[in-house]
Amino acid sequence: MLWRYEDLLRRNTHSLVVDLGFGATSITTLEMAARLRTKYTDLEFVGLEIDPERVKVANQSAQPHINFQLGGFEIPTTQKPLIIRAFNVLRQYEESEVAKYWAMMQARLAPNGRIIEGTCDEIGRRATWIELDNSQPLTLSLGVRLHGLDDPSEVAERLPKILIHRNTRGNRIHTFLQDLSRSWDSHSGYRVFGPNQRWRAAVNSLRDSWPIVNKQHREGELTIEWSAIAPD
Ligand SMILES: C[S@@+](CC[C@H](N)C(=O)[O-])C[C@H]1O[C@@H](n2cnc3c(N)ncnc32)[C@H](O)[C@@H]1O
Repeated sequence: MLWRYEDLLRRNTHSLVVDLGFGATSITTLEMAARLRTKYTDLEFVGLEIDPERVKVANQSAQPHINFQLGGFEIPTTQKPLIIRAFNVLRQYEESEVAKYWAMMQARLAPNGRIIEGTCDEIGRRATWIELDNSQPLTLSLGVRLHGLDDPSEVAERLPKILIHRNTRGNRIHTFLQDLSRSWDSHSGYRVFGPNQRWRAAVNSLRDSWPIVNKQHREGELTIEWSAIAPD
């Protein structure tokens, strides 16, 4: 599957982007807005939080085109969002609740919109995220800092809630991460060319057995079709 956010944003002008569960500070919403608005100047942003005090504080840093509102998975914005980012939110919930909250967000997504639901460590060196459209999960992406990386399957500690308890023998996500580790090990000879070359070679050699999505990735990232690693 080929998918480019550039196309989505270019074709859907005057869209809304939601940062759901923005957290203790408004930094993720502000950073995302600053980056995206350099190219897509007509985008609007709303940060949502369940914690009223956080909304109050965040609103002190509100800017034109960036607002903060009380709310959660029901997405109480007037406009349906084209993109919903929900990072490090569902990990506080039970695995059994994930489908319900996905469905709530999907019901509020603009047609052709995308949800990015993921988890990362505190400094963003290990991240995983699921991309969903209005009806289904599409892909899982992994992102690791390559410098000093021992074993890419360490990213398992930061799998999204729907997968984190499935990283055990007999589950496809476990098999995939084991294969990724083995491939990383078997390409250790690429170390002389730098970790990025080694990563690319390791990921490329998985393509015969796994549906790695063919798109332009940043260093240390890969995307795989959801159907290949979805929990049974
Ligand atoms: C760990 S912080 C994540 C902050 C930020 N998204 C990030 O990735 O750095 C999780 C935040 O989600 C908020 N939260 C939890 N459940 C929520 C819900 N149902 N609706 C909105 N926010 C929620 C919490 O109040 C908390 O501020």
